[in-house]
Amino acid sequence: MPTALITGATAGLGAAFARRLAADGLSLVLVARDEARLTASAAELRKRYGVAVEVLPADLSLDEGIRRVEERLERGVDLLVNNAGFGHPGAFLEVPVADEVTMLRVHCEAVLRLTLAALPGMRSRGRGYVINVASVAAFFTRGTYSASKAWVVNFSESAAAEIPEPNVRVMALCPGFVRTEFHQRAAMDTSGIPDFLWLSADQVVDEAMRDLARGRRVSVPTARYKAIVSVGRFVPRTLIGQVSGRLGRR
Ligand SMILES: NC(=O)c1ccc[n+]([C@@H]2O[C@H](COP(=O)([O-])OP(=O)(O)OC[C@H]3O[C@@H](n4cnc5c(N)ncnc54)[C@H](OP(=O)(O)O)[C@@H]3O)[C@@H](O)[C@H]2O)c1
Repeated sequence: MPTALITGATAGLGAAFARRLAADGLSLVLVARDEARLTASAAELRKRYGVAVEVLPADLSLDEGIRRVEERLERGVDLLVNNAGFGHPGAFLEVPVADEVTMLRVHCEAVLRLTLAALPGMRSRGRGYVINVASVAAFFTRGTYSASKAWVVNFSESAAAEIPEPNVRVMALCPGFVRTEFHQRAAMDTSGIPDFLWLSADQVVDEAMRDLARGRRVSVPTARYKAIVSVGRFVPRTLIGQVSGRLGRR
């Protein structure tokens, strides 16, 4: 049975990936920090979908946590979803540098190292997939968050372009606002975000899986966010900076 390893699998988009892939019959390896929640998620998925589920508690902001997941990936998986991530409660100039570095570890270093740990096995089998969860924020300017997600998009496209095997694919997934625990954890004020901009995690995962099957290197779910990203390319960066820096901030 093919196996998928999902980071940040206990909540939001990661949990939606876990449900979708379990429903498709894949065995799962779930990664997050909270071990009790991982164990409960795994039990629920086994009961509901009858698939094998391993739990791998790891903090991806720590070298030791990344190393544990690398070791599991080196034993072979068919699909890696680098999804774990978070937002900062404050604006760029207010966030302590240590918190910025933690974000770069989780959003960039872990994505880099886990992708590189998964690819050799996938390439030797001639088949395998990596989904790196970035954000629509990658195309705008919003401090280290958007900068780290821009790195994820560029890194994924670069890796995809260099892999010679046609059935080994790397795709960046760029969702807009998704209803998950993300904004509450980051203490963001979401009251100004209009309803039509909110997506469900299941909807994002469905579009991502469709785009992966089509061989897309960058997936931006829904027509409305595709339009936002396209318009964003033509708007002056100074204006983008003024608007995107204010969204969701108290
Ligand atoms: N929600 C949105 O609007 C949105 C939009 C665009 C992109 N995204 C991206 O989507 C991804 C998933 O976010 P979400 O919205 O689903 O957030 P979420 O509901 O807050 O879930 C985050 C998941 O990541 C795990 N996690 C956080 N820090 C971790 C660490 N250091 N090591 C290991 N696991 C960690 C959490 O579990 P533990 O706390 O137990 O570790 C949890 O399972 C993120 O990369 C985010 O940047 C979200």
